[in-house]
Amino acid sequence: MKPLSNRTSTFTDSVIRRMTRVCMKYNAVNLSQGFPDFEPPRPILQRLAEVANEDFHQYSITWGAQNFREALAKKQSRQMGIDINPNREIVTTCGGTEAMMAAVMTVCNPGDKVVIFSPWYENYGADCILSGAEPVYVPLIPPAYNFDANVLEDAMKQPSVKALILCNPSNPCGKVFTIEEMTIIANLAKKYDLYVITDEVYEHIIYKPHTMVYMASLPGMRERTIVCGSLSKTYSLTGWRLGYTIAPPEITERIKKVHDFLTVGAAAPLQEAMVTGLNFTQEYYDDLLAKYSHKRQLMCEGLDAIGLEHNIPQGAYYIMINIKEFMRNTGCATDLELAELMCEKVGVGTVPGSSFFHEPVNDYVRIHFAKKDETLNEALNRLATIREKL
Ligand SMILES: Cc1ncc(COP(=O)(O)O)c(C=O)c1O
Repeated sequence: MKPLSNRTSTFTDSVIRRMTRVCMKYNAVNLSQGFPDFEPPRPILQRLAEVANEDFHQYSITWGAQNFREALAKKQSRQMGIDINPNREIVTTCGGTEAMMAAVMTVCNPGDKVVIFSPWYENYGADCILSGAEPVYVPLIPPAYNFDANVLEDAMKQPSVKALILCNPSNPCGKVFTIEEMTIIANLAKKYDLYVITDEVYEHIIYKPHTMVYMASLPGMRERTIVCGSLSKTYSLTGWRLGYTIAPPEITERIKKVHDFLTVGAAAPLQEAMVTGLNFTQEYYDDLLAKYSHKRQLMCEGLDAIGLEHNIPQGAYYIMINIKEFMRNTGCATDLELAELMCEKVGVGTVPGSSFFHEPVNDYVRIHFAKKDETLNEALNRLATIREKL
């Protein structure tokens, strides 16, 4: 048999899904893969039940059903403080995942480079590889996850760099980029004529006093920014696979074609049901934030009480826990080994931090707190025994 493609030969099994399997083996509380175990908003589910008996069972317009795009444009124009045209600037995709893939494919030629902050969300590497592009990593240095503007400029000025991917708020480190940091990035993108592809799937989970700054809303950035968004996290329905890109008309025209060949379109009945969610008032988003603020506090205070060192996320729903002490005590050679031991002995599933970093960082595991309070309390009870068990 002839060998399969070189381009995909370096792909490894996702560490996150591997940890989910290890959790199942040891019946551990799974805080590895970031999805909620609580119900999505009832009105959306009720609308879905109605839609089942209506006429939404064939392909929608490939770049998104008209009423979905109109509702999304209205919501995002309000949210982002910019005017978004539903017909010329939006493509509805199968999740933020497809939005990112379509954006990178639209922008990059084989041999181009893409700047990515490390730690990063695992799909960006694959997006680059499938597009024939090469990632250039710029460290966000723990524990504060700041970057050095000179290192960033050195990366962005490389001649074959075409774009920068910005995950804001960041998964895994919970960083929310400040206006000063955003301005530095924007100025460099303009100086070196780069696209910025933003991953803003956690835009509604920003803890006070931090605030969301949209790259597309900064002076001179609208024309070079491709926003990738998702409804997965905002409406707690990661299985619906609804996402979108927002970009200027010329770029959107090209994304539409890439998207058409990738997936044709997102599920028509789900787009229709989701219009209900997109029309929610601000109260819904305030409640969502209040819910996650409470869960963040529950987890952070719980970890403090146990004496586990951790960061306090500014956004999203992940916490990095420092595991140096346990690496030393157990003699584990890697954080993956330790994460597996935590599943087995402590009964809590985490993701080894090294899977997010380009640099050789082995001192963290990531947990998420998009779970019912009872699940989080059970995880904390188990973590309280970590020093006996490891
Ligand atoms: C930063 C980030 N981007 C994108 C995604 C994928 O989103 P979707 O479910 O919309 O494909 C995730 C999911 O965890 C994520 O954390």
